[in-house]
Amino acid sequence: MNKPRVTIRRAGVSDYSKCLPLFTLLYHGDIGPNFRRTFEDYVRKKEGIVLVGELSHRLVGVLVGSFHLDIDWEGRTARIDAIVVEPASRRVGIGKQLTQYFISMARKRKCVAVKARVNVNNATAQKFNESLGLARANTYEYVIDFQEPSKRVGVKGP
Ligand SMILES: CC(C)(COP(=O)(O)OP(=O)(O)OC[C@H]1O[C@@H](n2cnc3c(N)ncnc32)[C@H](O)[C@@H]1OP(=O)(O)O)[C@@H](O)C(=O)NCCC(=O)NCCS
Repeated sequence: MNKPRVTIRRAGVSDYSKCLPLFTLLYHGDIGPNFRRTFEDYVRKKEGIVLVGELSHRLVGVLVGSFHLDIDWEGRTARIDAIVVEPASRRVGIGKQLTQYFISMARKRKCVAVKARVNVNNATAQKFNESLGLARANTYEYVIDFQEPSKRVGVKGP
């Protein structure tokens, strides 16, 4: 079967309303009051990036990534902070193309590694990452949450 033609591009702040239904799905409706500002920071600041995937000009997938200094890796690393594809458009390669685009950006920015965080219960995302060559790291993530539970956005992850 031929895979549909996907266009990957960087998002602008005006894409927020089209991305919001996907984020609402990803975070199970847990979208807080600072979410829009945070999205705009990712779009505008050089340490952030938002990529969108479109099928026939319809936005069907989004990837949020960031770039960091990393002492463990002795250089800059790139991190996929969130990725989601609308359910009806899954398994046709949109997530893969978003990720490959991000990996090529990380290479161009001279990053030495690409990381992704995945909830321990999210078997689909684990298989997805492994299919793209991201190997599971032997590290745990520890968090102090300074926000009120009502202001928390996606801390638990999908
Ligand atoms: C994870 C997610 C982004 C994958 O997007 P996608 O566009 O469906 O993925 P692709 O079609 O590019 O899949 C690439 C490969 O990943 C693997 N994969 C993807 N979904 C899979 C599934 N449900 N089961 C097993 N393997 C899967 C396969 O190897 C697939 O290649 P194949 O279709 O040729 O076998 C999508 O399932 C999603 O939005 N999930 C909900 C949000 C989420 O969990 N995000 C990740 C954490 S932030």
